Amino acid sequence: MNKTILVTGGLGYIGSHTVVELQENAYDVIVIDDLSNSSKEVAERITAITKKPVKLYISDIKHQHTLEAMFEHESIDGVIHFAAHKAVGESVQEPFKYYANNIGGMTTLLKVMHQHNVNTIVFSSSCTVYGDTNRSPINETHPVAEAISPYGTTKIICEQILKDLCKHSGFRGIVLRYFNPVGAHPSAQIGELPLGVPNNLVPYITQTAAGIREKLTVFGNDYNTPDGTNIRDYIHVVDLAKAHVKAMNYALTMNQSYDVFNLGTGNGRSVLEVIKAFEKASGTDLPYIIGDRRVGDVEQIWADASKAENKLKWHCQYGLDDMMKTAWKWQLVLGSGSKSS
Ligand code: NAD
Ligand code: UD1
Repeated sequence: MNKTILVTGGLGYIGSHTVVELQENAYDVIVIDDLSNSSKEVAERITAITKKPVKLYISDIKHQHTLEAMFEHESIDGVIHFAAHKAVGESVQEPFKYYANNIGGMTTLLKVMHQHNVNTIVFSSSCTVYGDTNRSPINETHPVAEAISPYGTTKIICEQILKDLCKHSGFRGIVLRYFNPVGAHPSAQIGELPLGVPNNLVPYITQTAAGIREKLTVFGNDYNTPDGTNIRDYIHVVDLAKAHVKAMNYALTMNQSYDVFNLGTGNGRSVLEVIKAFEKASGTDLPYIIGDRRVGDVEQIWADASKAENKLKWHCQYGLDDMMKTAWKWQLVLGSGSKSS
């Protein structure tokens, strides 16, 4: 019999791609999402890809009674927990919104899981927990730094809470530290839905090419890197989603109670390299200027992802060109009139 996985935030960017991969790998999936950063239509689009319906609960994970009713009604083997707010800048302006949703939401979820003897969880963390470091490639033994933002604080605290529960309360937890997820499903049925003006590089690029934004500003070209621009480890969202299936397979059978994995390609790419790859993939010239550095940017960071490759038997299949091609294809589906705020 198939195992059933609860995916919190399963209609969001990474969650929706993960639901597709779970359904395509013989897992039954239940999604809980409050639609705070997604829409119900995503469930239909997932079904268009997998030909399987998505069992959907539209609710906030902070509503303990709804969660309890769901866990009583359903037979859940494991949880992949994406539901959180993720805008770094907003978290500085509205830290309590982030503490309440990201930390409060996760503790409510863990409490209800515990009450119902569901103890296996995969948690979405971020390379932001490494802080401002120039030691790349960076592996999981690198110490967690002081957070750069309240968003980062929530990831560090949630990792720690999960570690406590794995040590003392019978949980089996896996923390996945993502580097920079980009791109979209090759079907162009699902992708990222950035609200308002994007902060992240790739949606800003695709919106500029679509004429929604006038030009891209490259945040500084005077860094100590080969072309002077920041270096990041961009990873295709489908590769990231596939890693969640591997992580869940591993979590359901692992001997230890807690483990942490970096998820990146292991390749660092500069902002200018990304722009060039996009221009090639889309056949467009991207208007851009060089501007000032952005406050809080780390100079360069990329993953040592060998632990995930070895222990989870996971390997990235998509390169930078695929990331740009699928991001552009998705932007063309969204159109040039959308998200013009
Ligand atoms: P997203 O905003 O697209 O998806 C999050 C989903 O969770 C949305 O559908 C939203 O409606 C839902 N949600 C939020 N709060 C909820 C709540 N209280 N109850 C129920 N549903 C709720 O974000 P994403 O990019 O898919 O990110 C998923 C996870 O990965 C987040 O935890 C994020 O912090 C983490 N992460 C993302 C990135 C990235 O670059 N996208 C990088 C590192 C880590
Ligand atoms: C940001 C977050 C990080 C989060 C990640 C993925 C910060 C400080 N960090 O990382 O916590 O996990 O997003 O969601 O916000 N750039 C430009 N012009 C632009 C936009 C970006 O030059 O208009 C550059 C940035 O300076 C950076 C690179 O592109 O060098 C990538 O930026 P971005 O996509 O925002 O990701 P991160 O800063 O790595």
